[in-house]
Parts: sequence; C-alpha cells; structure tokens
Amino acid sequence: MTQPHTVLGLETSCDETAAAVVRLTDGRAEVLSSVVGSQIAAHAPYGGVVPEIAARAHVESIDAIAAEALQQAGLGYGDLTGVAATAGPGLVGGVMVGLSFGKAVALARGLPLVAVNHLEGHAVSARLGAEVPYPFLLLLVSGGHCQLLAVDGVGACRRLGSTIDDAAGEAFDKIAKTLGLPYPGGPALEKLAQGGDASRFELPRMLLGRKDCDFSFSGLKTAAARLAEGLTSEAERRDLAAAVQAAIARQLAERSDRAMQAYAHEHEGRGLRFVVAGGVAANGAVRARLQETAAARGFAFTAPPLAYCTDNAAMIALAGAERLALGLTDALDAAARPRWPLDAAAAVANPTHPAGRKGAKA
Ligand code: KG4
Ligand code: ZN
Repeated sequence: MTQPHTVLGLETSCDETAAAVVRLTDGRAEVLSSVVGSQIAAHAPYGGVVPEIAARAHVESIDAIAAEALQQAGLGYGDLTGVAATAGPGLVGGVMVGLSFGKAVALARGLPLVAVNHLEGHAVSARLGAEVPYPFLLLLVSGGHCQLLAVDGVGACRRLGSTIDDAAGEAFDKIAKTLGLPYPGGPALEKLAQGGDASRFELPRMLLGRKDCDFSFSGLKTAAARLAEGLTSEAERRDLAAAVQAAIARQLAERSDRAMQAYAHEHEGRGLRFVVAGGVAANGAVRARLQETAAARGFAFTAPPLAYCTDNAAMIALAGAERLALGLTDALDAAARPRWPLDAAAAVANPTHPAGRKGAKA
C-alpha cells in the first residue's frame, strides 16, 4: 500500500463556497467531508450570479466552511498531506479568495499546494462515487461549459467538441427565466417539466447537418422564448418545460453519440467508458438519455453522485490528490486564471469562440 493522500479541497470559482477533505489510497477515493455553502439567496434577486457579491460572500465564509470541513472529517490541519484550491477558470474575484486561502494554509502548515483547474475537478467527479479507470470519454455540461473530452489520464484531456454559443446549463437557466422560474433555472425547469408532454411544442434541432461534435443552444433559446410569450395555461408551461428539457437532452445525446463513434474507432472498441459530469448531469432526463446512448454504443456509463454534479470541493480535493500522487504540485505564486482551457492545444488550434470579453472560458 502506498502512502494515502489526505487533501483539503477549496472551491470558490462561482457562487458556491465549498471545502472538503478527500483521502486517496491506492487510487481509491474516500470523501471524509464535503461542505457547500450556497450563495443562491444572495444572487436570486438579480436573476443570476453577480461577481462582486460572490467574491465578498466567499471572503466572509471561506474560513468557517474550511473549519467545518475539517471538523466533519474529524481532522486538524496537521493531519493533511496537501491543499488543493481551484485556480480557474471562473470569476476571478472568487477564485482569488479560495486560492489565497489555500496558499496561506500551505505556507503556514508547510503543505504542498495544488492549483486545480475547476474543469479537471468536474472531470474526476465521477470517481468520487465509483471506480472509473482512465481513459474515458467525458461530456462536461455545466453552467459555464459544454464540451466533449477524451480523458486519457490525470490532466491529459483532448477536446473533441464544445459549444459555439451557450453552455447547456446556461440554456437551461436562460429559458427557465423566460418561463418565470427562479435562479438557478435548471433544477426549477426540471421540476416544472415533471408530467409535461414534450411533444406539444416543436423546437428546432440545432447543428443537424454538422459532422463534428460541437453544440449550439442559441436557436433553441430564441424559439423557446417566443413560445413562452404566448402561453396561456400552467399545463402549457409544463409542456414547454418538458419540450425544452427533451431538446437539450437530445442534442447532448446526439453529439455524444458522434463522439462515441470516433472514440470507439480510436480505441478499437475496447475499454469504452462514457462519463457525464457538471451541474446539468444532475438532470434525470439528460442522464437517462445519455445512458441509453452509451448502452447502444457499447460504452459503460457513469455519472457522479448527485451531490458531486454541481460545484463542490470534494472533486477539487480529489483532482489535487491525484496530482499529488504523481508529484505534481504548484508554487505559492500560482496565478488565478479567469480562463483556463483543459485542453490548451485544442483551444488554440480550433477556437470555437473568438478571444475577447465573451470568448470561451474553456
Ligand atoms: O457545475 P455547476 O454547479 O457550475 C458550473 O461550473 O457552471 O453547474 C451549474 C449549472 C446551472 O446552469 C444549473 O442550472 C445547472 O447546472 N443544473 C441543472 C440541474 N441542476 C443544476 N440543469 C438541469 N437540470 C438540473 N437538475
Ligand atoms: Zn462547475
């Protein structure tokens, strides 16, 4: 047995202040604690995340949340073997809070620091609930990201496709808003869609003719907004929510299916695994549709436990522990990065967004 790694993870890149302790022993992860402080109430009046409010809220709660994570794990700082903090991509004011806190702990306790890419956290999140050996094909679907990646090992990702406009979670959130639902829209829309008839409304199928693995949700958003204006009954609202959810799930499944074919070809049909991660992986219809698609293509299917789909620090601690196990650590001057593609090479060679204010976060 090799030495276990017991890592404090910190996550502050969006609107959750989270801390967790994860122990990694011979490749097996055990979550000793996972505390998530949600800022939903603080942002709800604005209908979305306000970066300045988020950064301040992280400052106010990070120390208490980290202390609670250690207490729930029954450990003190002296029991840790490393600290992992999200260093990007995300809202930089918030990222700096968690990263600075992590650096302070590392410095004060003489612990190694790992500056974790938030997306790498999502990529390993399924490993918090099941053994998921590398390599695997990953669909990462959250509020800020929508991409298909071949994950060959720790920190080794190749991007096969990504969104050319909105992320899937962003589409859920924006369409939910036009249906009068509260932020965050994804879970609210899923609830409204229960029992709805997805066939009452026809919604456009995006990128049908395209042979790549990219995504697009803006046409769906426009069509749904137009339909939402003319709704007259609660039953119609429910049916439109069901239609939107089905349309998003269908597109995610169709593009994943394309990626599965390419991936299966590359791997000569052996050891095929498909993993979905990120906030949208919490959606039951999305999970079911992807599971069917994976089964039809001969892929094993894994989704993270529900608590680890949306942002959390257990996934950051695990990503950090996996890096520590390989001796990969970061210096105390590691920078907070608002944009930080997982697959830097693909992002440069094949940018789906131009650089600039609205450029791809991933
Ligand atoms: O992974 P996450 O917590 O944050 C990012 O890294 O972006 O994902 C949040 C996104 C939001 O857009 C939220 O509406 C969506 O995930 N989401 C859902 C569900 N739960 C969260 N979308 C659809 N159905 C859900 N049940
Ligand atoms: Zn996330």
